[in-house]
Amino acid sequence: MQRNRMSDLVKELSVRIKKEVREGSFQVTTTIIFCISMAFFVVILGMFINDRAKKHLLTEDFYFPQIYTISSFPSQSSSSPKLSCNSPSSPPRTPQKFSSTNMLRDWTTPAELWHSMSDKELLWRASMVPQIEEFPYNRTPKVAFMFLTRGRLPLGLLWEKFLLSFLYLQPVEWGKTSMIDAERRLLANALLDFSNERFILLSETCIPLFNFTTIYNYLINSNQSFLSLFDDPRPIGRGRYNKRMWPTITIADWRKGSQWFEVHRKLAIKIVSDVKYYPIFVEHCRPPCYVDEHYLATLVNMVSPEMSSNRSITWVDWSTGGSHPLTFVRKHVSQEFLNKARHGSNCSYNGEVSYVCFLFARKFHPSTLDPLLRIAPTLLGFDP
Ligand SMILES: *[C@@H]1O[C@H](CO)[C@@H](O)[C@H](O)[C@H]1NC(C)=O
Ligand SMILES: *[C@@H]1O[C@H](CO)[C@@H](O)[C@H](O)[C@H]1NC(C)=O
Ligand SMILES: *[C@@H]1O[C@H](CO)[C@@H](O)[C@H](O)[C@H]1NC(C)=O
Ligand SMILES: *[C@@H]1O[C@H](CO)[C@@H](O)[C@H](O)[C@H]1NC(C)=O
Repeated sequence: MQRNRMSDLVKELSVRIKKEVREGSFQVTTTIIFCISMAFFVVILGMFINDRAKKHLLTEDFYFPQIYTISSFPSQSSSSPKLSCNSPSSPPRTPQKFSSTNMLRDWTTPAELWHSMSDKELLWRASMVPQIEEFPYNRTPKVAFMFLTRGRLPLGLLWEKFLLSFLYLQPVEWGKTSMIDAERRLLANALLDFSNERFILLSETCIPLFNFTTIYNYLINSNQSFLSLFDDPRPIGRGRYNKRMWPTITIADWRKGSQWFEVHRKLAIKIVSDVKYYPIFVEHCRPPCYVDEHYLATLVNMVSPEMSSNRSITWVDWSTGGSHPLTFVRKHVSQEFLNKARHGSNCSYNGEVSYVCFLFARKFHPSTLDPLLRIAPTLLGFDP
């Protein structure tokens, strides 16, 4: 539209130029040439902006503001996992004003994780650690599945089969902040429930590689956290370190890693209570440095290197090179393919060699949902 109007304008102007030149009006010609240059400039600028906008919208890491938190644990009465979702639609409780049990329960298992606390209030509350280690009640440790997604969850049906329940998804408001801000807030929300022992952050392109029981046992029986973190000597690693971070953060502390993590409660608390390093990252890690790729890895390396296995629990294919891993589409999905992700590598688990190194995999295009729904339930032995 706009460009058509422009070309009309240019045509009209050229007709006028011819006329003016014939009439020999020099001043008018100068004005016209100026107008044409301006029009040309505007067209170029328009094309440039258009291009940039398209690029921005298509960029792989452009996230839409929706976050979901789900906690899950195997119930003691049956072998199937029960989903306890932190949604505002929890059944209303009968008020018993003077019951101490309720006071304790309200503190350890808040019904409303969707509260009105500010970030500062939330992080402070989530950083609380009881000084008596033994719980005064029967505590069943839970695994919190946290989804940080772009829009809806396209593989939601598969996750529902995995968790044996509908996903009641509750979007969380998202300010104009970084992804790490959102992750810390998500983690802090999940920490409010004292039953949550392990915290896993997943994207909308992730799938589970084993059934719930297997994943639950693997995580609960490990006292390590699973984050990829490594010292990358290249410009895209150490090269992104900013000297102004010194001396709080040195180049020797600097690490790179993925923002998709699986952490133990102890490490989760350290992440939400960090007030020392995060402000330095916010101030000094600017493109081409990305907080998402360096903050967690560097923080964990500095505060609790012994709590990290230094490997990710999420399988991903970097074999094609480039700055983004391969996205799998419909034709990739087969039994052999899933088995390669499930058992194709070895690693250390609780000090022993294990052939189960990855519990989740990414990145799966929505078109993989059909074949996954066909293969996964039998292959992964989803809990009945
Ligand atoms: C993890 O558990 C093993 C055995 O259960 C123990 O030897 C080790 O010290 C523990 N590690 C940490 C960091 O607590
Ligand atoms: C993980 O890396 C840190 C250094 O970043 C190291 O201290 C720690 O021992 C490593 N852990 C394992 C399990 O390799
Ligand atoms: C683990 O995998 C490596 C290749 O990644 C292989 O060389 C090694 O033999 C394997 N170890 C075991 C115990 O299978
Ligand atoms: C979960 O998968 C494991 C093997 O991966 C299988 O042995 C187990 O029976 C499955 N659990 C259920 C409840 O189906």
